[in-house]
Amino acid sequence: MSNIVIFGATSAIATACAREWIAAGHNLFLVGRNADKLEIIRTDLLARSTQRQTVATATADLNDFSTHEALYAQAAQAVGAPDIVLVAHGSLPDQKACEASVELTMQEIRTNALSVIALTTLAANLFEPRREGTIAVIGSVAGDRGRQSNYVYGAAKGMVDIFLQGLRNRMAKASVTVLTIKPGFVDTPMTAHIPTKGALWATPGQIGQGIIQAVKRKQNVVYLPWFWRIIMLIIRSIPEAIFKKLSL
Ligand SMILES: NC(=O)c1ccc[n+]([C@@H]2O[C@H](COP(=O)([O-])OP(=O)(O)OC[C@H]3O[C@@H](n4cnc5c(N)ncnc54)[C@H](OP(=O)(O)O)[C@@H]3O)[C@@H](O)[C@H]2O)c1
Repeated sequence: MSNIVIFGATSAIATACAREWIAAGHNLFLVGRNADKLEIIRTDLLARSTQRQTVATATADLNDFSTHEALYAQAAQAVGAPDIVLVAHGSLPDQKACEASVELTMQEIRTNALSVIALTTLAANLFEPRREGTIAVIGSVAGDRGRQSNYVYGAAKGMVDIFLQGLRNRMAKASVTVLTIKPGFVDTPMTAHIPTKGALWATPGQIGQGIIQAVKRKQNVVYLPWFWRIIMLIIRSIPEAIFKKLSL
């Protein structure tokens, strides 16, 4: 039985992970900014759990870094010392609105990069002396290459990607796993405004199962579904002189 902390626990992908983990017998500490949504998710998970399991929650806006340390302390008190931390929260910015507003751009970078860096720094410092633990973070294929249609989001996810590479390098000596999860298109509230959903789209349930497997296997980086590794290999290999002329 592991103690699992999920930041951004009201996300559709995080909820799918939580359902898998509760079915596998683990304890969960769920952090989200919306208390009502959290309570609905907690009730659903409790209905799927055994009496030996704990599902506890905490409400916090993760852009307020001053709450982070206390959240880890609360998690340890509620479910026991964390074994796995999943960082799932994020927002898909309106790229055009970001281009017109430095303030909005910085806010999106704060949500999608800086808050993640703050949370994973604390997780690493918690796990390093214990010489065990898993830090799993939901990034995105968008972080693999900047595109005109979503480069603020892509830049934030790319920053997290590089940060986790370094953290993984540091944590290897302490036997702590650092997993970067790179989903492609997923049908969730975040992408509800996109009308056409074709063959490349996955469900939160499919991504959740992929995350659970990758955590179990102590993987470093996982593309979900797997074919995004090939798609992004091709996209990354397009020369910049050609890439800059494409409308992507
Ligand atoms: N959907 C995709 O196509 C896709 C593709 C690649 C990567 N991802 C990544 O997958 C992760 C999960 O997203 P999702 O697709 O499951 O979308 P989602 O259901 O919309 O989840 C996003 C979550 O982030 C939370 N959140 C945003 N800002 C927050 C803050 N400041 N403090 C606390 N929580 C905050 C939201 O909370 P509220 O419920 O309160 O709004 C929501 O629960 C994100 O990191 C996203 O970037 C998604």
